[in-house]
Amino acid sequence: MAGAIKETVSNLIEKFQGSAEEAPREPSAEEFQQLQQKYADAGQGHVFAFVDELKPVEKARLFHQVSNFDPTRINELATTALNPPKTEQTTVSLEPLPDVATASILDSDPSDIQRWYDEGLKQVAENKVAVVLMAGGQGTRLGSSAPKGCFDIGLLSQKSLFQLQAERISKLQSLAQKVNGAEATIPWYVMTSGPTRKPTEEFFEKHGYFGLNKNNVTIFEQGVLPCISNEGKIMLETKGKAAVAPDGNGGIYQALVTSGVREDMRRRGVQHIHAYCVDNSLVKVADPVFIGFAASKDVDIATKVVRKRNATESVGLILLKNGKPDVVEYSEIDKDTAEAKDPKQPDVLKYRAANIVNHYYSFRFLESIETWSHKLPHHVARKKIPCIDPSTGDVVKPEKPNGVKLEQFVFDVFPMTPLDKFASIEVRREDEFSPLKNARGTGEDDPDTSRRDIMNQGQRWIEKAGGVVITDGEAFGVEVSPLISYGGENLEFLKGREIKAPAILEKEE
Ligand code: UD1
Repeated sequence: MAGAIKETVSNLIEKFQGSAEEAPREPSAEEFQQLQQKYADAGQGHVFAFVDELKPVEKARLFHQVSNFDPTRINELATTALNPPKTEQTTVSLEPLPDVATASILDSDPSDIQRWYDEGLKQVAENKVAVVLMAGGQGTRLGSSAPKGCFDIGLLSQKSLFQLQAERISKLQSLAQKVNGAEATIPWYVMTSGPTRKPTEEFFEKHGYFGLNKNNVTIFEQGVLPCISNEGKIMLETKGKAAVAPDGNGGIYQALVTSGVREDMRRRGVQHIHAYCVDNSLVKVADPVFIGFAASKDVDIATKVVRKRNATESVGLILLKNGKPDVVEYSEIDKDTAEAKDPKQPDVLKYRAANIVNHYYSFRFLESIETWSHKLPHHVARKKIPCIDPSTGDVVKPEKPNGVKLEQFVFDVFPMTPLDKFASIEVRREDEFSPLKNARGTGEDDPDTSRRDIMNQGQRWIEKAGGVVITDGEAFGVEVSPLISYGGENLEFLKGREIKAPAILEKEE
């Protein structure tokens, strides 16, 4: 049955996207002419400026690429992006989320946390939980051209981020199996983009899907949008190709529909979805506590937050903006707001709920994507975009930003969600958030801090279970394989044992 499901999803994806390698269908002269006219009418006819120089196959590729866009819609997006509407200077009201929409692992009653865990694990055991990984970003700050998930952060095991996540899924499936004795499956949907899809697929193949059943792993692709010049024109990457860029992590919603992933979830009876970013080395994939928390509150969206490290940390903040749940990005917040202190606790920042992009969605909510996805705004990133000058055919390598990339943000759906269908839970940073953003040596959110945080977590788990970790200066930490423990459970067998750090606790084959 699972095999049949996979087959259908693959077919849908193929149908929608086509393979990059295969020769495209040649459009008829009439079809081509119609498309060319549509672009000319929209003032974007230059996209076909070099069509007479193209080979038939290149011409067909250009046809199929730009058929995917509506030039009139692109013009609308470009106009808004380049001339943002001058809103009257109304005051924006920001407030922390109200207590009714929040909880904290730090001060919750342990019996509540246990209740959420049990409820979440029950949902996993009943095959009602799926995970969606957002892995379409290009990791420019990390300085690596491979997808971030392939990155080896220097663990003793040399496991990549993808492998750590896969093993957490695997372990959770076996923990859930103990609930009612039947096999539990957590389907894993991995969202990639044009640049990350192929290397991601190859990496999963090469590593045998990290021991997961391939039929329960679906790699799909988010959409792209054309890059727009400062003059509002669609840019050309080559004479036969428009310059495009992934449409941001908010492209997830559209992609869930067009790729057939949502349909696959429906067929499998999925009710609860955990979506997260690839770069968090401590991510608790499909965390039962989170699922149980959100399911028991019957919300449509829930988020995890950690306490913001300091006023300048590069994280978005989850808060109430003009009375609605929202995220204010680190690039958008002014210094005074970032530094404001909580009147009730003067040592603590007022706006401290750092967004770690761990979202819960009810399937019910994903069923409504079509009714709101067109309302998601596009954010503008001004970039230096290498391109072809459409009037001369010359290659342009710009030294200053010459165009914009348009991106949707995954959290822009929050303000459309009524407050009583939205919840947020604060979790411990040391247990749940250590992002890989920067290149080695930066000292913050880099491969060394990711590795350190995993090793420290393992050490804490072992000490809590009664083991003794012997550290010595630089030598610290234990890497506990997720296949042994998902969140610190079942380590009692180490009680009284001495472990010399750095060590690795790996499951025997
Ligand atoms: C993001 C959040 C920020 C949060 C921080 C925590 C957004 C817009 N901002 O910032 O609020 O505090 O993470 O670490 O989410 N991605 C795609 N497709 C794309 C672009 C990105 O799948 O087209 C994925 C990336 O692979 C990554 C995630 O989205 O998994 C976050 O992207 P990134 O650009 O690194 O966001 P940040 O600026 O770090």
